[in-house]
Amino acid sequence: MAPQTPAVVMDNGTGYTKLGFAGNDSPSFVFPTAIATKGPSAGAAGGTGGSGSGRPAVANKPSFLTGGAGPTGHLSGKRGTEDLDFFIGDEALNASAGPGYGLHYPIRHGQVENWDQMERFWSNSIFKYLRVEPEDHYFLLTEPPLNPPENRENTAEIMFESFNCAGLYIAVQAVLALAASWTSSKVQDRSLTGTVIDSGEGVTHVIPVAEGYVIGSSIKSIPIAGRDITYFVQSLLRDRGEPDSSLKTAERIKEEFCYVCPDIVKEFARFDKESDDRFKQYQVQQPGGRSVTVDVGYERFLAPEIFFNPEIYSSDFLTPLPNIVDTVIQTSPIDVRRGLYKNIVLSGGSTLYKDFGRRLQRDIRHLVDARIKASEARAGNAAKSGGLDVQVISHKRQRHGPWFGGSLLGQTPEFRSYCHTKAEYDEVGPSIVRRFALLGGPGST
Ligand SMILES: Nc1ncnc2c1ncn2[C@@H]1O[C@H](COP(=O)(O)OP(=O)(O)OP(=O)(O)O)[C@@H](O)[C@H]1O
Ligand SMILES: [Mg+2]
Repeated sequence: MAPQTPAVVMDNGTGYTKLGFAGNDSPSFVFPTAIATKGPSAGAAGGTGGSGSGRPAVANKPSFLTGGAGPTGHLSGKRGTEDLDFFIGDEALNASAGPGYGLHYPIRHGQVENWDQMERFWSNSIFKYLRVEPEDHYFLLTEPPLNPPENRENTAEIMFESFNCAGLYIAVQAVLALAASWTSSKVQDRSLTGTVIDSGEGVTHVIPVAEGYVIGSSIKSIPIAGRDITYFVQSLLRDRGEPDSSLKTAERIKEEFCYVCPDIVKEFARFDKESDDRFKQYQVQQPGGRSVTVDVGYERFLAPEIFFNPEIYSSDFLTPLPNIVDTVIQTSPIDVRRGLYKNIVLSGGSTLYKDFGRRLQRDIRHLVDARIKASEARAGNAAKSGGLDVQVISHKRQRHGPWFGGSLLGQTPEFRSYCHTKAEYDEVGPSIVRRFALLGGPGST
């Protein structure tokens, strides 16, 4: 029996991993979901267990996990991770900048693609960063919507067989993001019904959730997220011939200076009128200590505008985000639509632009009002609908929404009873993780 240690909460995203302990306000570690191993980068040779390679995790267990430390191995048997020939996170980026190491991202579009690399990544996360004995902790992990059940089983095999963790719960990121938004609402308003807009580095998902269950058939993803916005900023810097237009500089400028405006035509005019206020400068330190000045201009509002007017960036994908949200809700069961419009919750790094939520709310309202007007005109005055409440919820835990929701739910007294334990796993096998009881559902908190 594990003592009452805090649960470990791990949210592994396409771009960034958030790691920490339940009950805390923020993750203890946030670093790129990257691993550097000896040899060339992915793309050149690829890793061992690529997508579709079945279930390599345990069969291909890295020797440092099998050697000496059997299924009941202790941390002491696995120490030595420090001097292994791979690195994760920022250390991986540094190692791969030199010779001899290749850089890999084991998660693509939210799903684990390379289990061998993921296992090493988790191993370092647990032993080198969090520095815990997994047999003393319950673990709360996250998954994207529509994650195939085999992926859950692979995760469970690694967590229970390689790491011998005491207990495991796997939650859908969107459901956790809904729980994270509770910090801004009254107790009676705490609901696991809502529409989550989760926009990170690689993908933007719009996910309707009714009483804690994802309405899988109505989910939509759009191929515009943080990375695209960074590329767009970079292209504008390049076009102007700025002295530094590296991706890193573009990303910093994006995160520090970009915001969403109500109307781009008026915004251009404001830039011309109030140039001193609107145009900014950004100093970038160059190798060798010299620094250069990069001017920051219209990209401040144009870059996040691609969520609302995608045609400025792409010719393949043209539907604005507010229309996608409206369609997702309209294709959900009629009895939950009201709840879905009323609680549109933001989550992920790419929803942090100033006034992102305000613009989204205004645009969705316009769509809804126009439809109501049209149907009232068709039905005559007899069928007044009374309107629909559209609310987009911005809140202070948005940045790490799924992690923070995990931290909240993982600290509840009943959390452990919702997990599967190592003993249950040993009895039933990996299929046990195909189902989890709903944590944070009505009555459970
Ligand atoms: N203040 C900010 N304004 C705008 N974008 C930001 C800000 N802070 C971070 N970002 C962007 O958010 C993205 C990372 O977000 P997040 O950590 O939610 O992604 P992820 O979980 O790794 O990826 P995914 O959810 O796609 O699997 C990056 O593109 C980063 O540049
Ligand atoms: Mg994420």
